[in-house]
Amino acid sequence: MENIASASILSADFCNLGRDIKKAEEAGCHYIHFDVMDGVFVPNISYGIPVLKSVSKVASETLDVHLMITDPIKFVKAFAENGADIITFHIESESDTDETVNAIHSFGKKAGIAVKPNTPVSELEPYFGMADMFLVMTVEPGFGGQGFIYETLDKIAELKAMLKSRGLDTPIQVDGGINAETAALVKKAGAEILVAGSYLFGAEDMFAAVKTLIG
Ligand code: DX5
Ligand code: ZN
Repeated sequence: MENIASASILSADFCNLGRDIKKAEEAGCHYIHFDVMDGVFVPNISYGIPVLKSVSKVASETLDVHLMITDPIKFVKAFAENGADIITFHIESESDTDETVNAIHSFGKKAGIAVKPNTPVSELEPYFGMADMFLVMTVEPGFGGQGFIYETLDKIAELKAMLKSRGLDTPIQVDGGINAETAALVKKAGAEILVAGSYLFGAEDMFAAVKTLIG
């Protein structure tokens, strides 16, 4: 699979969100990453369904929704009906993992399962062949602009090897602290979909920055 850059709009200018989404798409980001935080699962609050609805009218690329919320299954329908193409939730959440994947699929959407930096990737194994994407967090979820946790590189490589040994090519997404330097490392370890927020939206030339991630 070709590498994909997913622009995390958590670092966009919210007063000019439509403009920033267009800018990310024109710069070569094929996914727009939408971080939902509830202030309970993570110590921060971001934005939710009404904002996604507006974003979906502007975005032409894939809407990649990352739910950092306590009970994601309760909100699958609302996110699915308001523009999400991929819905990723955390295995550490309170929702049943099988049921949540099935709920996402019942709306015709792709299901991603995420692990925090301290959760072993072996916990994902029961969902091999069922999930459409696995997200290995490379920072503690909750905030943009944090430093990459280098210990997560081994987890990416381990997950890649586990998938390969089962003949699966389910894509691995990484999220947090991705820049030109860490992008090279995560790709080498086996990640295909690279989420980046502060690096892309802080770049003087976003087109050039996307190239450093996936070029
Ligand atoms: C963190 C979010 C990320 C965040 C990444 O909890 O899930 O998507 O926006 O931001 P950067 O790329 O700045 O680390
Ligand atoms: Zn995210």
